[in-house]
Amino acid sequence: MKHIVSGIQPTGSINIGTYLGSIQNFVKLQDAYPDHHFLIFIADLHAITVSQKPEELRKTIKELAAIYIACGLDPNRVSLFIQSEVPAHAQMNYLLQTHTYMGELERMTQFKEKARKQEQGVSSALFTYPSLMAADILLYDAEYVPVGDDQRQHLELTRDIAARINNRFGEFFTVPKPLIPKVGARIMSLTDPNVKMSKSDPNIKSRIHLLDDDALIKKRIRSAVTDSEASIYYDKDNKPGLANLLHIYSAFSGKSIESIEKDYENAQSYQTFKEDLGELIVHKLAPIKARYKELINSKELNQILDEGRAYASKHATKKTLKLQRKLGLGRARR
Ligand code: AMP
Ligand code: TRP
Repeated sequence: MKHIVSGIQPTGSINIGTYLGSIQNFVKLQDAYPDHHFLIFIADLHAITVSQKPEELRKTIKELAAIYIACGLDPNRVSLFIQSEVPAHAQMNYLLQTHTYMGELERMTQFKEKARKQEQGVSSALFTYPSLMAADILLYDAEYVPVGDDQRQHLELTRDIAARINNRFGEFFTVPKPLIPKVGARIMSLTDPNVKMSKSDPNIKSRIHLLDDDALIKKRIRSAVTDSEASIYYDKDNKPGLANLLHIYSAFSGKSIESIEKDYENAQSYQTFKEDLGELIVHKLAPIKARYKELINSKELNQILDEGRAYASKHATKKTLKLQRKLGLGRARR
């Protein structure tokens, strides 16, 4: 069975950036790749590379699981599981570290950014984060890895590690390809369109969470930073705030940016456009919120996670043992 693999860290509430850049894309891919089985996981081992409060982390893990299903992942097509429940991820991470160079890890821009933000020292796990990510992917011989634009560099490193091991031992790993959505790949902050919308941004007004109530969603759009020209066309360099709102509009509606520009070509202000966008987001998130409420404390959700873990464990354990054998670990097989 051919695999598509991806994960999201359970840190903070899911916002529309993560939804449009990642989850919505997974949902669409289910139809686009009918021959593939999906492994989608909650990357809790990645989350603890920076300090987390245990109770909060546990709550977020469950929330994220419910959100995935509420957003439309089909448990028949997708094995949804929690990364730490499949110990082979940590084992494979260690094995891959023996084939990952310090220099490669030092070049990772996400590491540099996150390291700068740490107040109590930088954990060595944050540094080796990319090899854990490579493990997540290579364990399942993923053919494709759907991610946002910011993960491109980690995917390149994963490919390099896979190629390095294949060079040594013959075709052992499938070398994965990234699938980066054209629309929604980089949703920017509503308060500063020069930085990406992020769950770690201290300014809560910078983002919309999937579970925010309707009035708040509209308010956030109304107060989103734009410019004073008040005419609606796409110009990323000179009108980055509006360009971001056009991206969000396009991703939620499925319309092209050109056709949205046309709809508003006679607008004298941003007001109607912003009201419509607020309505559109509220409308699109309503069914997700409703399904989430059904799922969050249900047996169904636990069952989905159990089945996901069983499928993932079977593949991951086998692949890890195989690599251990290639590397000469343990005893010879009798
Ligand atoms: P994170 O929420 O940082 O764990 O990221 C989960 C996935 O969502 C990754 O594939 C990211 O690339 C994607 N993602 C996160 N934030 C954004 C954003 N503002 N715009 C587009 N994609 C995003
Ligand atoms: N590093 C990714 C992020 O921050 C999350 C992630 C962890 C991931 N392991 C992965 C994504 C494997 C794709 C495949 O967004």
